[in-house]
Amino acid sequence: MKIDGTAIANTILPRLERSVNTLLEKHIHPHLAIVLVGNDLSSSIYVGIKQKIGKKIGAKVSVFKLLPSITSSELIHLINLLNYEQSVHGIIIQRPVPIVISNQQLNKLVIHTKDVDGFHPQSLYTSPIALAVLDIIKWAYHNKRNTGEFISWLKKQNILIIGRGETGGYPIIKYFKKLKIEVRIGHTQSKNIYKLSKKSSIIISCVGKPNIVRHNMVNKETMIIGIGLHEENNKLLPDYDQNIISKNVSFYTPVPGGVGPVNVAYLFKNLVDAARKA
Ligand SMILES: NC(=O)c1ccc[n+]([C@@H]2O[C@H](COP(=O)([O-])OP(=O)(O)OC[C@H]3O[C@@H](n4cnc5c(N)ncnc54)[C@H](OP(=O)(O)O)[C@@H]3O)[C@@H](O)[C@H]2O)c1
Repeated sequence: MKIDGTAIANTILPRLERSVNTLLEKHIHPHLAIVLVGNDLSSSIYVGIKQKIGKKIGAKVSVFKLLPSITSSELIHLINLLNYEQSVHGIIIQRPVPIVISNQQLNKLVIHTKDVDGFHPQSLYTSPIALAVLDIIKWAYHNKRNTGEFISWLKKQNILIIGRGETGGYPIIKYFKKLKIEVRIGHTQSKNIYKLSKKSSIIISCVGKPNIVRHNMVNKETMIIGIGLHEENNKLLPDYDQNIISKNVSFYTPVPGGVGPVNVAYLFKNLVDAARKA
């Protein structure tokens, strides 16, 4: 069964719109600043989606487009200005950033109180991608069973996360660890991904390459969630062949219309929370 991420996002966005209206009555306009460095096509598409969703719920979204030739000190200077700007409640630096700066330094640039993407080690916010994954699994769980406690059910599942990178796998691994949900992790050095996936009831694939999960690695009970995206003929595609996998699993997220819209909805939930706290 296809998991309809747009429908899940549409259960979140009207609540956010109401929260924005309540804040506006108090003269607080939730304001997200997006810093976009360079001309990466996918990044521009993601930023466009965030602008559209921001408009839909009535939040203000400002995009700061920077040339790829910008230096790290110029980037740091801009982020510091935004950190101190009272009218800005949330800041995101759209990844990947094509300049020489370590991930550790990059993750700490946005002040923890405005880090709505959850990259700062002390961020007040859970990463939207991790919140999206949990909500998607919950949605599928409710479709499958009507009773039982979701988290305790989740704790009993064999969960495999393929990829432990900065924006995909790692934030999900970190959140699941916080919730005390055990996961197995696959990466380039893993010799047993095939075996692990065969045994897993939930596979979260966060790589960004084709054919990471093949039909012979899943079964009719598997739920597969596609985080990783790669480009093929100007289209973004998940780590698996959607036509084939759809016939071999119980649930899968499509691209487009899978994880992406839920991820953006949770980004704006974090923004609304940040505006409330401010
Ligand atoms: N859908 C969304 O809303 C959303 C949000 C965030 C990210 N993404 C996408 O998620 C993907 C990952 O992003 P990232 O920043 O986490 O990337 P990353 O830092 O490049 O990490 C990629 C991960 O995949 C692993 N890997 C690479 N090739 C593999 C293979 N053949 N088999 C198993 N593991 C392999 C790497 O293993 P090693 O650790 O051993 O190098 C690494 O852990 C990207 O495509 C990104 O666009 C999508």
